[in-house]
Amino acid sequence: MEINFTNVSKHYAARTHEKMEDVLMDPKGIGPAIHYYMIRGGSEQKNTTVWEPGTVSGEYIKTYGHYHVGDLSETYWIVYGQGVALMQKLKENENGEMIADEVEEFKAIPVIAGSEVFMPSKFGHLLANTGSTYLVCIDDSPVDFEDRDPSSFPGHADYQLVKEMRGFAYYVVEHEGKPALKKNPLYKKIEKEDLGGLQVIE
Ligand SMILES: [Fe+2]
Repeated sequence: MEINFTNVSKHYAARTHEKMEDVLMDPKGIGPAIHYYMIRGGSEQKNTTVWEPGTVSGEYIKTYGHYHVGDLSETYWIVYGQGVALMQKLKENENGEMIADEVEEFKAIPVIAGSEVFMPSKFGHLLANTGSTYLVCIDDSPVDFEDRDPSSFPGHADYQLVKEMRGFAYYVVEHEGKPALKKNPLYKKIEKEDLGGLQVIE
């Protein structure tokens, strides 16, 4: 494999608290300056994400979340720490466009080091760090280094629908020292859900 040393800086990005305010359960909550760090190599070299531990107003530190543009699946390999992966597939209108506030299927999956999670195309996905250490995950999503800001906002990812809904259908929150779920009131309906044994709190 050929490694391009001329654009090394393009491989690193960090997601700031300011940007995460779009999708936090409590956008005014206090959090770390950086929520997670990304080193992107693409499908072959793989991508690495490292999450800070902790919560913002009770919500665990998470990735922003996105849907893939086109028919593109992805695999997460958890290499350290523990977390909860969220996946959701939105309903589509007659033109095949996703309906932002109607979920056809939602899944919450508790993960630990060694877990592998497959995200089929059409399922939006995010991962929250529910442990007391860094959470570290490798994934195989593609990166087009010709994009303007490939590591921070790769072209294959659609963040807009998540922004519009201020996150996914549930937030992963700390409850009595353990992860639980709290409904995002902006979603109108969830047709099918598998909450991975997590409790739902009001
Ligand atoms: Fe992705």
